[in-house]
Amino acid sequence: MLSKTLEKALNAQINYELTASYEYLAMATYFETKSLKGMAGWMHMQASEERAHARRLYEHVLDCGGNIVLDAIAKPNQKFTGVVDVFKKALKLEQGNTANIHKLFEQSVKGKHYPTQSVLQWFIDEQVEEEATINEILDLLSLAGDKGAALLALDAKLGGRGAAPAGSGE
Ligand SMILES: [Fe+2]
Ligand SMILES: [Fe+2]
Repeated sequence: MLSKTLEKALNAQINYELTASYEYLAMATYFETKSLKGMAGWMHMQASEERAHARRLYEHVLDCGGNIVLDAIAKPNQKFTGVVDVFKKALKLEQGNTANIHKLFEQSVKGKHYPTQSVLQWFIDEQVEEEATINEILDLLSLAGDKGAALLALDAKLGGRGAAPAGSGE
């Protein structure tokens, strides 16, 4: 049985995943307006993944006999100064999420709730992937630049994500 404390913390994490989904939708929108369809598609996939993460935790709470308490989703940031800025903000979002998941894991250890620890192990691994993928994109942007042919090449590369789902595992 879930303790009330852990139930509340898991509901907060569901909200965080949905907030991340909404933030990624805002990032996708920025790229859509710039006609960078590959990057827009990449961000839309991120948005879907975050929703899937929320669903995974949602099912876990229900399976453990807990209650789902849905909260408001905060308005996402829609102000970006450029392509690099978007990916920097994506990295920050993921780093925040990693910290939240680690905190949640600590709570599940403290509360000796082994099923939650097992579910969160997947999230811990996923966050390593997420951060590594975005760091890689930022490396490519700083190496090749964020303009002209280099930008279009990266847009095409990210647009091909469906075929090679680096970091897109759910
Ligand atoms: Fe997530
Ligand atoms: Fe993520």
